[in-house]
Amino acid sequence: VMLKGVTRLISRVHKAKHREQHEGQHYNISLQELKTVFPHGLPPRFAMQVKTFNEACLMVRKPALELLHYLKNTNFAHPAVRYVLYGEKGTGKTLSLCHILHFCAKQNWLILHIPDAHIWVKNCRDLLQSNYNKQRFDQPLEASTWLKNFKTANEHFLSQIKVQEKYVWNKRESTEKGRPLGEVVEQGIMRVRNATDAVGIVLKELKRQSSLGIFHLLVAVDGVNALWGRTTLKREDKSPIAPEELALIHNLRKMVKNDWQGGAIVLTVSQTGSLFKPRNAYLPQELLGKEGFDALDPFIPILVSNYNPKEFESCIQYYLENNWLQHEKAHTEEGKKELLFLSNRNPGQLERLCAYL
Ligand SMILES: *[C@@H]1O[C@H](CO)[C@@H](O)[C@H](O)[C@H]1NC(C)=O
Repeated sequence: VMLKGVTRLISRVHKAKHREQHEGQHYNISLQELKTVFPHGLPPRFAMQVKTFNEACLMVRKPALELLHYLKNTNFAHPAVRYVLYGEKGTGKTLSLCHILHFCAKQNWLILHIPDAHIWVKNCRDLLQSNYNKQRFDQPLEASTWLKNFKTANEHFLSQIKVQEKYVWNKRESTEKGRPLGEVVEQGIMRVRNATDAVGIVLKELKRQSSLGIFHLLVAVDGVNALWGRTTLKREDKSPIAPEELALIHNLRKMVKNDWQGGAIVLTVSQTGSLFKPRNAYLPQELLGKEGFDALDPFIPILVSNYNPKEFESCIQYYLENNWLQHEKAHTEEGKKELLFLSNRNPGQLERLCAYL
């Protein structure tokens, strides 16, 4: 039944031609909004651009338009649909996700954003046995950093949403049923040792309460393929730790199940940051592996590809206007052809080329 619904949705998108008029145009996000919508920062190259231009502009592109259309037509009584953005390196998966995040934040959705799931499965400085489940590991630093950013992005929700259970932290401290969710977040930030459990509680409460229709929830995970596969983390006896043994990953896997309502799940799969996948792997099945693919099935794949000619032209114009591209030949057809040839219209490549010219 759900797949039928999806097919209908897709055919509607193709009819919604009027949206395409915006394709290739840039839209501005205020610097103030950047701080609250993307508290953990932006992708490094884009952050550099924002700093240089002193403005944050995202190009309106087809993958994001397609996704926005789905989100606008979501029936929130149905299970959350999973969308997987995929595409070759440098095509703009993360920025497409940023576009979606910004849209949802503007619509007053609650945003649960994991900017890079890969960092949770590698180079973790503190790894402690979980109090809650001795088989699992806590990552206090990763968890408390995430809580701080989550708080910045969703400040106004944290006093409104009340926890539906009592949570005991230790002999003296607990969060009573009916207290604001913000108290759980504060507990995790103040007592780093409790941060991982606090993240688990926040996720569980949000999933449950968005199903009640109290708010719309966006679960956005960049590099979701990190949830399956291998980690670089080892036990004291040097045996490898599987991702599901990490309490954060265990809880995140539950968030990307489609067993809740009231929101949407937007994911990217990316090779960047993954340590055990071939450099040019980009298809969902390659990056997710069988286990991950099965866990996310069914999902709607959305391809992010290189710029089309219109987007390429628009990008060049934007760089020229902002003096990112200063080479005297850049204004000429010949110069543009050369950039096209060298970049193959890959957004990431083009940005780098222009920065060096
Ligand atoms: C919370 O942290 C304290 C130390 O700050 C620790 O004693 C307690 O066991 C933790 N509680 C849970 C539930 O992990």
